[in-house]
Amino acid sequence: MPAEFFAGLFLKKLIEPKGAFIVGHDKKKRMDIPEDKVGNGITNNILKIVGVMSGKGGVGKSSVTALTAIELKRQGYRVGVLDADLTGPSIPSIFGVTAIPEKIEIGILPVKTKSNIIMMSMNLLLENPEDPVLWRGPVLSTVIKQFWDDVIWADLDYLLIDLPPGTGDIPLTVLQVIPVDEVLVVTGPQDATNLIVRKSIKMLEKLQIPIAGVVENMAYMQCEGCSERIEPFGESYAEAMAFESGLNVLASLAIDPKLISLINQGQTEEYQGMNMELIKEVAEAIK
Ligand SMILES: Nc1ncnc2c1ncn2[C@@H]1O[C@H](COP(=O)(O)OP(=O)(O)OP(=O)(O)O)[C@@H](O)[C@H]1O
Ligand SMILES: [Mg+2]
Ligand SMILES: [Zn+2]
Repeated sequence: MPAEFFAGLFLKKLIEPKGAFIVGHDKKKRMDIPEDKVGNGITNNILKIVGVMSGKGGVGKSSVTALTAIELKRQGYRVGVLDADLTGPSIPSIFGVTAIPEKIEIGILPVKTKSNIIMMSMNLLLENPEDPVLWRGPVLSTVIKQFWDDVIWADLDYLLIDLPPGTGDIPLTVLQVIPVDEVLVVTGPQDATNLIVRKSIKMLEKLQIPIAGVVENMAYMQCEGCSERIEPFGESYAEAMAFESGLNVLASLAIDPKLISLINQGQTEEYQGMNMELIKEVAEAIK
């Protein structure tokens, strides 16, 4: 395969092959794949694929994706994260990962986080992490397809997909190209947010993709002293929105300054705190 691999417009040079036919994350095993079968997701043996979606930007899709992955990993599952937010990827910085994916004969090996979560993101492929991706929809769709077809996800229990905000081209491509089993819908407490999030719920209903439930993020702060609950955005509308759509709020995550600082340092896998207790319900719901 040529260096101009992803969408025919290659970016940062992928690490050159160390050896052919080496597949697998924990145990490197030999996989003999006929040439004509290469590049259609044949190397992916995944028990469950879960998308994380929200019509709204900045509600915490990437953070919820990361925390759910971290919880499942702590429980001993084999977990991967596909960062489908091609133009605003934040998964590598959340995990503090800058490794370059390695290309081998049968595809691209994803990278690993500190706790061995398998990961692929557009930002790992850019020459400079601050470079913008100035590609139009059809090219972005091709990259999404390659993130599934050509990336060697190998054997995983869960693959979580962090979707970009909205109901546009990329979410649609992800839901049509990748065999997504279920989707988690992330929302915030505000009415205006929930109005937009309902668009993604309707999109999923149209595509007949099951929704595992709603995750409300950044609804309140809990005082460390007296555990009083402070609601900076006022009363939450998430429960009512979920109810109207026949869904459950699986968890209401708190605004936690400790989480913000770990995310900023790329040390999210170190996080301990009440949100990790709450995210257990989310992990259970997608099992
Ligand atoms: N529970 C939380 N407590 C504190 N900070 C949080 C929490 N959840 C998310 N954040 C912070 O809020 C910001 C937005 O979160 P995040 O990037 O996960 O949202 P997003 O929905 O993925 O955004 P985008 O639409 O840009 O992809 C980040 O800076 C993150 O660190
Ligand atoms: Mg995001
Ligand atoms: Zn207090």
